Amino acid sequence: MKLIAQRLYLRDLEPSDIDAVHEYASSLEVVLHQEWGPNTIEQTREYVAGCVMGNSLPDRRTLELAVVLNDGSLIGSYRATLSEDGTEAEIGYSLNPRYWHKGYATEAAKRLVEHLACEFHVREIFATSRPENLASIHVLEKLGMQQIYLYRRNVLIRGEWRDTLVFSVKV
Ligand SMILES: CC(C)(COP(=O)(O)OP(=O)(O)OC[C@H]1O[C@@H](n2cnc3c(N)ncnc32)[C@H](O)[C@@H]1OP(=O)(O)O)[C@@H](O)C(=O)NCCC(=O)NCCS
Repeated sequence: MKLIAQRLYLRDLEPSDIDAVHEYASSLEVVLHQEWGPNTIEQTREYVAGCVMGNSLPDRRTLELAVVLNDGSLIGSYRATLSEDGTEAEIGYSLNPRYWHKGYATEAAKRLVEHLACEFHVREIFATSRPENLASIHVLEKLGMQQIYLYRRNVLIRGEWRDTLVFSVKV
């Protein structure tokens, strides 16, 4: 799978992506609002191996995609998980901080949403964010998403119970 946008493209994660993924998956800054990480290299290897395996399933329900600039630099990863009937999907993403604040996250997310709507016939897309994760919330708002739920203290992240906002958009 290759989804071409303007300055970047999304493609299936590959075993050779481990080092580039680990550069950001091992950063506390990247996982601050997430339940996983910072990864050891072994955890990143397992993550990439799981993505490659998931992508290879014939009845593929999860898209595990690398975001790659047109110059070949891998800058992050996106996941889309489809519901059983294929009408809903949840998306998530992480980018290497070296490439933050350049609009890449929004550009990749828009391309993924377009693909889910056009190729998979998804009708509603969901995403979650911690309320403090303003960068992520801004990306979701740029996709036209609106907050539909707030779960209080529902997730334990490095010893602290944190809130979760759920966003959605009909496509
Ligand atoms: C979320 C993430 C992908 C956003 O990446 P990014 O490169 O900042 O995204 P963009 O450049 O597309 O910016 C999107 C918007 O958010 C704004 N923004 C970015 N960082 C911000 C911050 N810390 N505070 C407030 N706004 C911010 C940008 O200004 C931009 O809005 P604008 O175009 O109106 O200026 C990146 O911060 C990241 O990887 N974070 C760690 C992983 C993570 O939290 N993933 C989400 C899990 S829910």
